[in-house]
Amino acid sequence: MKNLNEMLLGVNIDHIATLRQQRGTRYPETLQAALVAEQAGADAITIHLREDRRHIQDRDVDLLSNTLQTRMNLEMAATDEMLTIAQKISPEDCCLVPESREELTTEGGLNVLTNQEYLADYCIALAESNIRVSLFIDAVPEQLEAAVEVGAPVVEVHTGHYADASDRQSRQTEFDKIRQAVEYGNKLGLQINAGHGLDYHNVSSIAAIQGIKELNIGHSIIARALFSGLASAVVEMKALINR
Ligand code: PXP
Repeated sequence: MKNLNEMLLGVNIDHIATLRQQRGTRYPETLQAALVAEQAGADAITIHLREDRRHIQDRDVDLLSNTLQTRMNLEMAATDEMLTIAQKISPEDCCLVPESREELTTEGGLNVLTNQEYLADYCIALAESNIRVSLFIDAVPEQLEAAVEVGAPVVEVHTGHYADASDRQSRQTEFDKIRQAVEYGNKLGLQINAGHGLDYHNVSSIAAIQGIKELNIGHSIIARALFSGLASAVVEMKALINR
């Protein structure tokens, strides 16, 4: 039985698709990755369908939406194109993120404060389709308040600034901002998730913060999986060529 206070893990499998798109091959298959992650205990599968389709493709979204046993957390920009897709496939969760074509990965949180009217329309439309909306925001009290204003039940607090901090002092400062945001967000009645840049070295302190419901982690898990599996992949190839 699941412990209700257990922190949940959403596994982001974008980089399985990155590897596939790099070569234009059929593998690695995101569906296979998702099923393995679910079997290993992932509570949700997170994918980011980017406007430029640099990794996850529409086909991935369709296949996953028909097959996942847990939940799909679809990250997307607040655009009409993405809203139409979300309404069609109806994921359990939808996380609205800022997106710019030049960035390597999502670089900062949404500015909910200055885009309240715009974002409220998307929050309402998604809620009407029974999709739980989350807003990816920086750990800033005004952004939490704005998230409540636009009617989002969930926020995902951006942990990237904490993860990228170059010295102990600034890491502590970023950590304190996250801790305070979690406390304040819970007081405002928001469900607080967190993610971005979390890895095997920096996750423990974030995971120790009371009041975070779910962490979304991708890059470090996929990177770790390479080395968990590289030795046996070489053994298998060696066996094949000498058969
Ligand atoms: N949460 C959000 C909103 C993201 O955009 C991403 C990256 O796609 C993640 C979590 C996962 O970040 P990482 O791959 O650094 O673990």
